Amino acid sequence: MTPENIDRIAKKFGTPFYAFYVDEFISNYKELKNAYTEIYDNFEIAYSYKTNYMPACCKEVLKLGGYSEVVSDMEYHMAKRYGFEPSKIIVNGPGKWNGIEEMASDGAVIMVDNKYELDRVIAAAEGLDKDVTIGFRLNIDIGTKKNSRFGFDVLSPETSIAIDHARESRNIKIIGLHFHLGGSRSIEAWKARAEKMTMYADTLLRDGERKIIDLGSGMFGHVAAPLAAQFGQDIPSFSQYAEVVAGVFREKYGDLPPSSRPLLIVEPGSTIIANTMMYAVSVIGIKTVRGRNIAMTDGSVHQMGEMGKKKQLPAHVIKKGKDSVSVMSADITGYTCLEDDIMYRALPEEVSFGDIIYFENCGAYTNVMKPPFIQTGCRIVSCRYDGTMALVKRGDTVDDYLASYEEEI
Ligand SMILES: Cc1ncc(COP(=O)(O)O)c(C=O)c1O
Repeated sequence: MTPENIDRIAKKFGTPFYAFYVDEFISNYKELKNAYTEIYDNFEIAYSYKTNYMPACCKEVLKLGGYSEVVSDMEYHMAKRYGFEPSKIIVNGPGKWNGIEEMASDGAVIMVDNKYELDRVIAAAEGLDKDVTIGFRLNIDIGTKKNSRFGFDVLSPETSIAIDHARESRNIKIIGLHFHLGGSRSIEAWKARAEKMTMYADTLLRDGERKIIDLGSGMFGHVAAPLAAQFGQDIPSFSQYAEVVAGVFREKYGDLPPSSRPLLIVEPGSTIIANTMMYAVSVIGIKTVRGRNIAMTDGSVHQMGEMGKKKQLPAHVIKKGKDSVSVMSADITGYTCLEDDIMYRALPEEVSFGDIIYFENCGAYTNVMKPPFIQTGCRIVSCRYDGTMALVKRGDTVDDYLASYEEEI
């Protein structure tokens, strides 16, 4: 995203706003898809809604022929509304509980997390006159010392008991396995996940049940150098992930007839959207307090997602306030009344009243995770490589937020 485009959006719509670089999102999607399919052609992307469920990106995934990955009835209804066939919606996570009957009868791919969910799916299938497609989310050790709370513990006999129970149940069709572990982005962890999941597909499933092996996500996407330096580890490329992961699948299944090869699925969220959104704000005040320079803005770190709180997201200043007071090394602060609402600490640039500051890497867990705290959510403007732009979400209003409350009490 060029400063010129940010400036044009600011002039037309005002700050604060997110700028969504649609073509960059499409390019990430295609790059990831090509990297894997070059090695193992039975591969699909299921885009992770929780990361950013805005229509402007999910509908691009629909156009690109991808799947949706959802973790609740809310996200499931969004995916259906966007036009995804239920058979191309993968349902994960514990938040699907209240939607299971509908998902089962629609023919969604339900990745069961635990035996209580399984019982509910089995009960739902009993009353139908068609198959319900399910997979099992596994909880495995991929050598990262993380003990996830999700999925069936593969080391427990309960896992194969649950799979046998599903097999014997009316209208239940087992179609595969799922695994995801956050924060395990190294190549070694991905190699282990591919090797172990293909091994468990052999030991836990029968022929005809190995249709999908879904490895979740937790890959690095494209990370700008100043942010990459803060991770303290190598940032693998999509090709490097594909080499080991799709490599394991090709080795194991490459000689089978195409119809017998399991479909390898990954579920990128931040992996393909984080770097496609910028967050732009205006400097609305400058002050120096006991030697500390502060540039106040009309934005907030609470609009910048988890990553914005943990790391210093690459920040750029567009000079607007040339004739006004300037400071160096200012803390860039937000509109909330919270002391820790600091969007960047000691920005090593001159900042003036009236300047625009924009932050990179704001596409994941931002607009979807921001509660209506103190200020309304801001607009989102999409922008293309050729400079065309469109408002894809207006700013929220007080009416939006009060619509679900009773005001006459
Ligand atoms: C089950 C599942 N799939 C996919 C994702 C998306 O992962 P990422 O944002 O690392 O691409 C998540 C994120 O937590 C997840 O829980």
